[in-house]
Amino acid sequence: MRLTLRVWRQKNADAPGTMTPYDVDGVSPDMSFLEMLDTLNERLILDGDDPVAFDHDCREGICGACSLVINGDAHGPERTTTCQLHMRSFADGDTIDIEPWRAAAFPVVKDLVVDRSAFDRIIQSGGYITAPTGSAPEAHATAVPKPVADTAFEHAECIGCGACVAACPNGSAMLFTSAKVVHLNSLPQGAPERESRVLDMVGRMDAEGFGGCTNTGECATACPKGIPLFSIATMNREFVRAARKR
Ligand code: FES
Repeated sequence: MRLTLRVWRQKNADAPGTMTPYDVDGVSPDMSFLEMLDTLNERLILDGDDPVAFDHDCREGICGACSLVINGDAHGPERTTTCQLHMRSFADGDTIDIEPWRAAAFPVVKDLVVDRSAFDRIIQSGGYITAPTGSAPEAHATAVPKPVADTAFEHAECIGCGACVAACPNGSAMLFTSAKVVHLNSLPQGAPERESRVLDMVGRMDAEGFGGCTNTGECATACPKGIPLFSIATMNREFVRAARKR
């Protein structure tokens, strides 16, 4: 395949960015999108040019590091992570626009890399449980009904990639935050911090500059792990309950 890429290049957070065109030849339909970018970078390095900076780690769809807006869609045309997107989703001769996540709370570091540490600070504010130290408790000591375990597991699938924020016209982090809150608040192990968790995590989310939710649903559509939109409604109920109790 021969492709034309239009890639967002930006030297640093303060420099102006621009879409820069590149022709890439010899792309296999079986390559992942990141392998295709590797091909471009190998050529740029051989030519003595600055390679395109982009985030990646596991390349298996589990770490949440990869983060590209491809032709206007977070993670591209398939409902998966950028690293699990393959070039067979595109046609020979295509022009592909590649941009970083766009959100006020995710400032660009360089090219396609953005600073997502705001997510870390939301987690630090309440995304944990109180657990006594010592040996591991007996696995069946705390019974968890199957529907509750299923709900917790469904929300635990969030990999924190930030596609929900990138897809949202408001730059809202409600789907991410709700996935973490519902995961832990569903379980008996998360009960001791049930109220403080939701109040603190929502407070941190607002302080980080994420936008509000207006129920457009773009977040759930873009989420590569299928975190459901009703997660946000569940978190809102948790928030009202906790605020009234406090
Ligand atoms: S690189 Fe880990 S999810 Fe894509």
